[in-house]
Amino acid sequence: MDPLDIIERYYRKGTALYAILVDHSRQVADKSLAIARTVPHLSPDLAFIEKAAMLHDVGIFKTRAAAIGCDGPHPYICHGYLGREILDAEGLPQAYGLVAERHTGAGITLDNIRTAGLPLPERDMVPVTVEEKIICCADKYFSKSPKNKNKVMTRDSIIKELARINKGHARRFSQWAELLNLE
Ligand SMILES: [Fe+2]
Repeated sequence: MDPLDIIERYYRKGTALYAILVDHSRQVADKSLAIARTVPHLSPDLAFIEKAAMLHDVGIFKTRAAAIGCDGPHPYICHGYLGREILDAEGLPQAYGLVAERHTGAGITLDNIRTAGLPLPERDMVPVTVEEKIICCADKYFSKSPKNKNKVMTRDSIIKELARINKGHARRFSQWAELLNLE
């Protein structure tokens, strides 16, 4: 399976949105592989990580995010589970869809969804496998918005940003940062 074949069924090559998605996904895939190589004792599946990272944001076109050229009907926070629906419908093993569904924030708990009334299906969306944790963490180092493209994120700045959303997010990311030797 070539992730670009799937991406190109939903994004037109040559458009700004295609470039934003593919550049970001490549950055996240490379970062994910770099992280994975530091934790051989956790036996991460590198081939899976590369492909799943390329596909983690495939759902963004279904959301509204003017800054990156998305004009879909759904709130941006939905892009993870919407991506999962696409990957499941493409017939990929469920593991790909779960990476997409669980990568937003530091995962989103069922309690987060209920307490904040988030427009998401009521289920736990927190990374479980080492591959899901790696891709979720790697994603936090990069912004898709052209305005923040050159912003350099570090473990500490990510924790600070997550803490502004929710302390539980910051706590989970901190635990994974230890597990995965993040800088
Ligand atoms: Fe995302």
